Amino acid sequence: MESSSIGIDIVSIARMGQASKKELFLKRVFTGPELAYAKSRQRPEKHLAGRFAAKEAVVKALSRGILSGLSLKEIEVVNGADGRPSVRLGPGAAEAVAGRPVHLSISYTREYAFAFIMISAAAEAFGREGFK
Ligand SMILES: CC(C)(COP(=O)(O)OP(=O)(O)OC[C@H]1O[C@@H](n2cnc3c(N)ncnc32)[C@H](O)[C@@H]1OP(=O)(O)O)[C@@H](O)C(=O)NCCC(=O)NCCS
Repeated sequence: MESSSIGIDIVSIARMGQASKKELFLKRVFTGPELAYAKSRQRPEKHLAGRFAAKEAVVKALSRGILSGLSLKEIEVVNGADGRPSVRLGPGAAEAVAGRPVHLSISYTREYAFAFIMISAAAEAFGREGFK
């Protein structure tokens, strides 16, 4: 059985502002809905940085290098009606995650975006009842 794992990443919002001037970078890393979400906000680079951090945190949780062939575009951040972020996976990423639930939290300071990922083991270690 695949075990639980965590990943965390921090991204400079100013650096994302620079990187996001390159159309090729945006096309390689972000999906259409991610770009649309960021563009709809006051500081698009902030939300791109948050999404970039989330993607890298997933890669870390999977213990896969960025050059492992797993495309960051296969890891998509979507927001629910209440704003809560979650992760949608393309086929390659889904294979690596192997059906385990993926949990995401994003936070910001003025300068940095932070993302924390937890990939839970498929089965809970302790049943619903816990210790007896
Ligand atoms: C969730 C909440 C605590 C975030 O506080 P905040 O100071 O804006 O947090 P940060 O700036 O550090 O982080 C923002 C990120 O939190 C996440 N977030 C937003 N709403 C969330 C929620 N309901 N639950 C969990 N995470 C949430 C998002 O990923 C967001 O970044 P993104 O827009 O780039 O995806 C705050 O917005 C809140 O209290 N919301 C209550 C629910 C609410 O009123 N929703 C209004 C829309 S219906």
